Amino acid sequence: MLSPFPLGRPARMAVMASGRGTNLEALLEAFPPGNPWGEVVLVLSDNPEAYALKRAERRGVEAVAIPWRGRRSFEAEAQALLRARGVDLVLLAGFMRLLSPGFVEAWYGRLLNIHPSLLPDYPGLRVHERVLEGGEKETGSTVHFVDQGMDTGPIVLQGRVPVLPGDTPETLERRVLFLEHRLYPKAVRLVLSGLAFPPGEGLKALLGEAWPRFQGLSPREKPLYLRVAALLSAWGLRDRVPAALLGQGGDWARGAFLTAHLLAEDHPALRQELAQLPEEVRLRAEEGLRRVELPL
Ligand code: GRF
Repeated sequence: MLSPFPLGRPARMAVMASGRGTNLEALLEAFPPGNPWGEVVLVLSDNPEAYALKRAERRGVEAVAIPWRGRRSFEAEAQALLRARGVDLVLLAGFMRLLSPGFVEAWYGRLLNIHPSLLPDYPGLRVHERVLEGGEKETGSTVHFVDQGMDTGPIVLQGRVPVLPGDTPETLERRVLFLEHRLYPKAVRLVLSGLAFPPGEGLKALLGEAWPRFQGLSPREKPLYLRVAALLSAWGLRDRVPAALLGQGGDWARGAFLTAHLLAEDHPALRQELAQLPEEVRLRAEEGLRRVELPL
């Protein structure tokens, strides 16, 4: 198994937030009760004053403050609630505490975070200031699986925005936030459809001779290849995955790569190329795209 998803039923999601909660708002809007992908059933905060809690209450979603009295007690309470509510996927959205290795391990592959930079660049705090100091021409945001490091886990999806002359940390933050409000729900749909997952033993077995090639890819390249592996598997073509990843899989591999690209970012040239593939490949690809739908 590459991923614990898709579940075959709507997912139950929890969001953990420490502050104003604009990303939470975007997630509440994208995943309301009755949504076929799933719904946000619980919002947790370490900060009783967090505006995020009000946003949840306003929408009738259970909102619980667990005031921070140390990691151990916070995590024990959070874990009990997540279990009691049958949560499948936990989304950190401006959650300002580091979680323990035990908590992260228990949720690995089902715990996501959003970080306002193009990881692995600029992990940590004061991101926009540092991006400006670094003279970057481009920045963005990353949704990633949480692992035991800080902002280091496998990438699900990234989005980019330009840095413009005259930008301040505030203008940059606004631009990146606007991007994030579309990026996070889309990343969640990729995870829920089984097209984004952390590389594990199942993948190693599936990739076979292509595993070393995969391991040599950069953290930003890997998600594309993971989507290709997942798409080909979903199409009943597991045997073709190693060749596809080595650039030798023929039309099906090409169709999977084009679809995998388009799932992250729409591009007319790639759609055009897809339209010219044999019909059976094209139909599968279109079905894959419809499954995650919604352009960024
Ligand atoms: C976002 O920029 C997110 O990337 C980072 O914290 C910020 C939270 O903003 N992790 P908000 O609370 O969602 O408005």
